Amino acid sequence: MPATEDQAESLAPTLRLEEPIPAFRARTTQGEISSSDYLGKWLILFSHPADFTPVCTSEFVAMQQSLSEFSDLNCNILGLSVDSVYSHIAWISSIKKDFGVEITFPIIEDISMSIAMAFGMIHEESTGTATVRSVFFIDDKGILRALIHYPMNVGRSISEILRTVSALQAADESKMSAPEGWQAGDDLVIAPPTSVAQADIFSTAADSPGESWYYSKAPGSA
Ligand code: BEZ
Repeated sequence: MPATEDQAESLAPTLRLEEPIPAFRARTTQGEISSSDYLGKWLILFSHPADFTPVCTSEFVAMQQSLSEFSDLNCNILGLSVDSVYSHIAWISSIKKDFGVEITFPIIEDISMSIAMAFGMIHEESTGTATVRSVFFIDDKGILRALIHYPMNVGRSISEILRTVSALQAADESKMSAPEGWQAGDDLVIAPPTSVAQADIFSTAADSPGESWYYSKAPGSA
């Protein structure tokens, strides 16, 4: 049933980049957790539409197989759907049996949809009361740094999620920015000049092809 205008307004995602995430407590496949447990670590909170579905299974297998790379970035993983913890347990048992992969990261049960609503993971028009494929990139201070939403019929790229965490951390450390397609170890781009005097200095320094007074690269600090 389509949402009324009032409902649609209350379902609209209100989370904004650079703001603290809503605090939550939840039951998961690994016991009870609280959002504050993750302070001091980066966190990927990702929702999926339903347990026992093929695209979601492919994402979970790939996520588990990349867990050590996330760990190297001091980044934890937390799944979520509106299914019960019993359903999550049965699904991950089936993934272990049929795909040989043991899912070790926690998966939140959000039957009441309270977390899904607070994070804007319910997009009524596309999934009814199921969560869309959302990914929330949360830094070690509990601040939302990036988010993506994918529809039901397109799986996410776990390597792009890893790349984005890595790029956010490199940009923080270097106070520079990651250009298109940036990969760990690549140069970053320097903030463009904000005065004519600065532009003159940048213009003199930017003497290689592929550089300009507003576009120059430098190695990151790592
Ligand atoms: C999936 O393949 O992940 C999927 C299929 C139908 C509904 C929701 C998810």
